[in-house]
Amino acid sequence: RKKVTLGTLRSLYKKGEPITVITAHDFPSAYVGDTAGMDMILVGDSLAMVALGMEDTSEVVLEEMLLHCRSVARATKAAFTVGDLPMGTYEISPEQALETAIRFIKEGRVQSVKLEGGKEMAPTIRKITSAGIPVLGHVGLTPQRQNALGGFRVQGKTSKGAMKVLEDALAVQEAGAYAMVLEAVPAEVAALVTEKLSIPTIGIGAGNGCAGQVLVQVDMTGNFPPGRFLPKFVKKYGDVWGESFRAIEAYRDEVKTRQYPAPEHTYPISKDELEAFQR
Ligand code: KIV
Ligand code: NA
Repeated sequence: RKKVTLGTLRSLYKKGEPITVITAHDFPSAYVGDTAGMDMILVGDSLAMVALGMEDTSEVVLEEMLLHCRSVARATKAAFTVGDLPMGTYEISPEQALETAIRFIKEGRVQSVKLEGGKEMAPTIRKITSAGIPVLGHVGLTPQRQNALGGFRVQGKTSKGAMKVLEDALAVQEAGAYAMVLEAVPAEVAALVTEKLSIPTIGIGAGNGCAGQVLVQVDMTGNFPPGRFLPKFVKKYGDVWGESFRAIEAYRDEVKTRQYPAPEHTYPISKDELEAFQR
């Protein structure tokens, strides 16, 4: 498969072919995503919850993100890679954001960075892109701001709210982002925003009118214990947790009953050597 570049993404967008994006947080999850033909792989700060067991994304620190980015980068041969700037590493000033973005490229080994925010982040996006680092925007629901938003709520549900999403999206585009994540907005609003833009929207909980889609890999593969809350927009395409659980239970039972290891799982020794040893 040919390496996906910004040029590839642009031509997919021009053709109207949806851009496929999935998150990954380590070598195996990136390897499978890349091999399965994803156009982009995002090292989302959602790894705080799905890989590190944290309560929300505000807890994950820069060094942790960089470690996970490096492992993803090693596995990703074709997909275009994105690292998610964690809370606290880019909001203070465009200079702080550029410093962080440079670390993602140099140490994280990803090809672009993502940051949350609309209008107010335009100078920051401009600063990073002017240094030659592609930026993926993120508007609509921005989880790092959950406390200010009053939780994980759908954005753009009123005409005023929808106008804010559109203005944010236009500002992010104007600032030089190559695409943007559009999270948790009504499908009609997302479709209209997508129509008004000249760069791709990557939807999550934003309906079918976006230029691409992104999902968190552990959500869509079903790699989580039963009973966990799933947002409405997630489609569970697999049962990775169930399959792992079944395999580990079978292993446990076979060890307890001495069915495993069987003779075919052991190394041979010649009769002569064995007799000499036994003497
Ligand atoms: O952190 C993440 O996984 C994300 C995507 C869901 C867009 O930001
Ligand atoms: Na994120």
